[in-house]
Amino acid sequence: MAPAADIEDELLNEKNPKPLDEDDIALLKTYGLGPYSTSIKKAEKEIKEMAKKVNDLCGIKESDTGLAAPSQWDLVSDKQMMQEEQPLQVARCTKIINQNSDDAKYVINVKQIAKFVVGLGDKVSPTDIEEGMRVGVDRNKYQIQIPLPPKIDPSVTMMTVEEKPDVTYNDVGGCKEQIEKMREVVELPMLHPEKFVKLGIDPPKGVLCYGPPGTGKTLLARAVANRTDACFIRVIGSELVQKYVGEGARMVRELFQMARSKKACIVFFDEVDAIGGARFDDGVGGDNEVQRTMLEIVNQLDGFDARGNIKVLMATNRPDTLDPALLRPGRLDRKVEFGLPDLESRTQIFKIHTRTMNCDRDVRFELLARLCPNSTGADIRSVCTEAGMYAIRARRKTVTEKDFLDAVNKVIKGYQKFSATPKYMVYN
Ligand SMILES: Nc1ncnc2c1ncn2[C@@H]1O[C@H](COP(=O)(O)OP(=O)(O)O)[C@@H](O)[C@H]1O
Ligand SMILES: [Mg+2]
Repeated sequence: MAPAADIEDELLNEKNPKPLDEDDIALLKTYGLGPYSTSIKKAEKEIKEMAKKVNDLCGIKESDTGLAAPSQWDLVSDKQMMQEEQPLQVARCTKIINQNSDDAKYVINVKQIAKFVVGLGDKVSPTDIEEGMRVGVDRNKYQIQIPLPPKIDPSVTMMTVEEKPDVTYNDVGGCKEQIEKMREVVELPMLHPEKFVKLGIDPPKGVLCYGPPGTGKTLLARAVANRTDACFIRVIGSELVQKYVGEGARMVRELFQMARSKKACIVFFDEVDAIGGARFDDGVGGDNEVQRTMLEIVNQLDGFDARGNIKVLMATNRPDTLDPALLRPGRLDRKVEFGLPDLESRTQIFKIHTRTMNCDRDVRFELLARLCPNSTGADIRSVCTEAGMYAIRARRKTVTEKDFLDAVNKVIKGYQKFSATPKYMVYN
């Protein structure tokens, strides 16, 4: 009975089995393996490592972008969902009822429809909403869905001077006094407000620059803009003259609203006579709109706190035509006159404008300055340009003193009839 003996043998073996040695284990491990399985496994591991390395180098994992694989996109239902999302309507939150409690309600005013008392949407928190704010509401329940920024006319936003002009105080010849006065008003209250608080006085709110054309009023304002870190808004008077009634005044209001939202701000009204003219009645009422704009400026000047960081600069050639209301102390306190430059200043202005020119070294600027009495900075600049033109005509590479003398003759003597300076000297 050989089989029976075998079984017995096996049973015996089971009772105290022989431990497998290492060869057996190695043999067992090869069971079920295909011919190249180890090398395939190795290759797969390498591929995985490589992919991980590539992902690391790329920096962005799929989970970071939040995008599913394109095969899982469901464009149709996405489209449907977006269509269901209604556009919001703009409203103004006029009042908050039971503020700071859990069941706060909001009174909103939807223009030309009605007023509603509504609640908040899911995505807004009660701290986001303030009275008087513009909000977006949905069209079904008029719930407030998003807070909106205050409305400011884009053309007002455009007036902000973002990149600083490349004019510095060094580019302004003469005008020492004017620069000092301007800096006192603009820089001192911004840098040392505590001095004014201590003394208990309000710093001047603004400066009016006046003087004949071409004496550097705009230039100095640009230098101020370059120096200060404050936001600089430049408005030209004529920009505020609008077609429709109330538009100009609204622009002024939005301008100051924008200025107030900044930490520090300088508003510069150039050629302010376009709107700041004295009030009069022409019987037709065509200029009423202009006057309304000016009154809004007056109003805004009264409105802001002088210790607040808004400074108003204005420039004009015709101070006599300005409305006295604009100039009364407490509105524009400082009036800085820009006179004609004296001899020293004229020499300096000559040097400033020839700084970049290729001149002979021995040009006597002082002599030139003596030859241009009663000329403005703009005249002198024109002389320099004209001297350059003479040199070009003579096909020379440098400008000589002779060129300058010819230019002085041409510009100062020849153009005298166009000069507006004598006329303006009468007003000032
Ligand atoms: N004091 C000055 N120093 C140097 N350049 C001047 C001076 N005044 C006027 N200019 C020149 O005349 C140009 C016109 O001056 P601007 O300031 O625009 O005149 P306005 O007083 O009419 O605003 C300036 O761009 C500048 O080149
Ligand atoms: Mg000007």
